[in-house]
Amino acid sequence: METPNFSFLIRPLSTEEFRDKYWLQQHLHLQRDPEDYYDRLLNLDDIDTLLENENLPPSLFRLIKEGDQPTRDNYSGSKKYERTNEIIADNQKLFGYLNQGYTIEIYLAQRIIPKFTRFFDGLIGELPMRHTAKLFVTPPGTWALEAHMDQMEVFVCQLHGTKTWSLYDWPIKSPTEDQRSQFKEYTQNLEDKPAHQMTLTPGDLLYVPAGMIHKARTNDEFSVQISIGFYTNRWSDLLKNMAGEFAQAEVFRSPLPDGLLNPMDPKAFERSFKQAVKEMIDNTDIQAYLSSFNFDPEKYPYPDLRGVFKDILLVDKIRPETVVARRQLPDLSMTRQNGMLEISVQSKKSTFPKLLAPAIERLLDDRPVAIGSIQQNIADEMKIELARKFIRFGWLRIEQL
Ligand SMILES: [Fe+2]
Repeated sequence: METPNFSFLIRPLSTEEFRDKYWLQQHLHLQRDPEDYYDRLLNLDDIDTLLENENLPPSLFRLIKEGDQPTRDNYSGSKKYERTNEIIADNQKLFGYLNQGYTIEIYLAQRIIPKFTRFFDGLIGELPMRHTAKLFVTPPGTWALEAHMDQMEVFVCQLHGTKTWSLYDWPIKSPTEDQRSQFKEYTQNLEDKPAHQMTLTPGDLLYVPAGMIHKARTNDEFSVQISIGFYTNRWSDLLKNMAGEFAQAEVFRSPLPDGLLNPMDPKAFERSFKQAVKEMIDNTDIQAYLSSFNFDPEKYPYPDLRGVFKDILLVDKIRPETVVARRQLPDLSMTRQNGMLEISVQSKKSTFPKLLAPAIERLLDDRPVAIGSIQQNIADEMKIELARKFIRFGWLRIEQL
């Protein structure tokens, strides 16, 4: 079955319709009939499986009831991870809070629920922006957050139960974090007269543009919703990136006029400064900066572990003809040191004799390769042994057995 993507999220609208009419322009409530519409992304069983795991860190959760937020030590357990000594959350305490009307917010849903991870990876390939996904489990007849605005574009997927949303004013579009805090008081003093109100039922989608003030309340049953947030890349982000390079240029390293050691007529400074900025911008390859915002799987901070288990089961069957390819590996580095080759992937380090370096470098470069065809001066058994090791590490994928 094809992996759901952005068009799945906004169906039955087309991407063009959504972009032209709603994106950054107005909210959208899509009512959908099939209650199990989101089952392909995530369902209650997935959440159950997640919460059956008794080894989750408290930092994955936030509890909140009508503005009240207990600190993490209230739901930290006495157990620790053996290796890192980090405290583990006490799931019983979490459920206790849930029974007292607290919403459980689960962060990083896109990393901890595999089915949802696949959807999310596809989504950010299509929309290369900073993103977040949070799961909200809210008890009946309650609300978690006071009326507020978000800095990101929010897509709410209602999985279970119903939730009534109130949308108020939209005093500022695409606010920065500072502007969002400046509007806090304004939001608190807002009269409780929503401009729009809608009840989300399972299968529904609500798009809330950044800056629009909103609040949500559950009805007579538990509500489970996932909120996907996108932080649009802004003109100011482009400027910030460029400023890093500008700072290296001699003219921008000059001191500002201070009247004593660097006297300069302010008007003359203004002219020179504007001239320098203009020249710098004229000589900047804006297209190159723009493409740096594109999605680059190599820069994506998570390894691609899809199918690792199946590959491991096949590892004894690989032959010289087997074709392998490197998986997406963030932070892969290979350095030769004191006659050894050191490989580091996400701070996991391994060393190999220098003799094997050409074979390893070929196995781990970004082109698929038949194992037997690499470096001729070592035996096939040795090459296969290396490939097996890298498959087990999750560094190589079997392309063709
Ligand atoms: Fe929000």
